[in-house]
Amino acid sequence: MTVDPRMKTRTRVGPLSTGKAPRLDVDALLDDPKTGIIVCCGSGGVGKTTTSAALALRAAERGRTVVVLTIDPARRLAQSMGIEELDNTPRPVADVDPAAGGGLDAMMLDMKRTFDEVVESQATPEKAKQILENPFYIALSSSFAGTQEYMAMEKLGQIHADARRDGSYDLIVVDTPPSRSALDFLDAPERLSSFLDGRFIRLMLAPARGPAKLMTAGFGIITNALTKLLGGQVLTDLQTFVAALDTVFGGFRQRAQKTYALLQADGTAFLVVAAPEPDALREAAYFVERLSEDRMPLAGLIVNRASPAPVGDLSADEAMAAAVRLRKREPGSLTAGLLRLHADQKRLVEREALLRDRFATAHPQVPTAVVPALAGDVHDLEGLRRVSALLAGF
Ligand SMILES: Nc1ncnc2c1ncn2[C@@H]1O[C@H](COP(=O)(O)OP(=O)(O)OP(=O)(O)O)[C@@H](O)[C@H]1O
Ligand SMILES: [Mg+2]
Repeated sequence: MTVDPRMKTRTRVGPLSTGKAPRLDVDALLDDPKTGIIVCCGSGGVGKTTTSAALALRAAERGRTVVVLTIDPARRLAQSMGIEELDNTPRPVADVDPAAGGGLDAMMLDMKRTFDEVVESQATPEKAKQILENPFYIALSSSFAGTQEYMAMEKLGQIHADARRDGSYDLIVVDTPPSRSALDFLDAPERLSSFLDGRFIRLMLAPARGPAKLMTAGFGIITNALTKLLGGQVLTDLQTFVAALDTVFGGFRQRAQKTYALLQADGTAFLVVAAPEPDALREAAYFVERLSEDRMPLAGLIVNRASPAPVGDLSADEAMAAAVRLRKREPGSLTAGLLRLHADQKRLVEREALLRDRFATAHPQVPTAVVPALAGDVHDLEGLRRVSALLAGF
């Protein structure tokens, strides 16, 4: 397993401690000038966007010049960061404490609309309309697994190249698209580029490019068969669409590979975000193994929205026994209800600790941070600051 050697570990303390996993030192990661890219991965809904924004804010307030690339943040969070507008350009986030000399820009990537805009900018209005209404395009731009991931990687590559050239940022924090599996982020661009660079697409492209000599006899037969099957108009639509895509995203595979190399570079740190649930932690384990296979630098695991430990020393069994006794004497007792709640909460916390221990036993070198669930959603800078402080162990 490759664990980033920059990650110093310290013993975890406090009520969420299980003592098995080394503690992820978030501030050491953020402060290290060699950390140039942080990628937050994880399965759907675990807190990738929140974590990315929180880390970026903390890094900025600790003196780094940061840009965070968010994907579909919740509306209120986007508003508080000043990024509701989709223009694919990083904008300065107001109210970031500049005392340490850092700053934060943020942007939101809306893949479907970005894709649409690219098509609109490249084709005549009539052609663009044709493409946008094309069923192949709709499938590709809105549901083909890989488009979002590809666009996120593409944008990361662009920002990184710009930052290199003009020194605009020294840290890029990348959120990843909502997908069922964290692995999609790594797999999808390859799937998409093989599709777009594929033989079928090449064949479809040939007549749209014009030269008759490309029309081999074999291809003529295929075209005829497809025309019969799909109808001439559909085939023309597909060819037009594919031709437009090729103009817009030529060399898909090379570009995807270039960004892949960037993800393997020394300055990159992957953080895997997971909920304290069996499925999410299993996903996280697959992802950790995959990063290691792909020689991508893993910085650690973030267990987000952990159940906060209830106050008091009373064990779950004690609380439960007391609740049963009370209820016998006084049915409908409020105290008995509270004791039950305490018991349930205690059991939940114990179960989550057990799950984390299991992960730590299978992957003992992965530094881990545990962030308790806050009472409400995280929708403003103050909320992000709280999450980031919890992430850093405060
Ligand atoms: N520690 C936390 N405490 C309370 N609420 C949280 C915490 N972390 C995240 N949330 C909330 O959980 C919801 C999902 O979080 P977020 O959008 O960051 O997840 P995601 O992994 O980016 O989801 P998706 O896969 O859909 O992109 C949000 O409403 C967010 O405010
Ligand atoms: Mg998200």
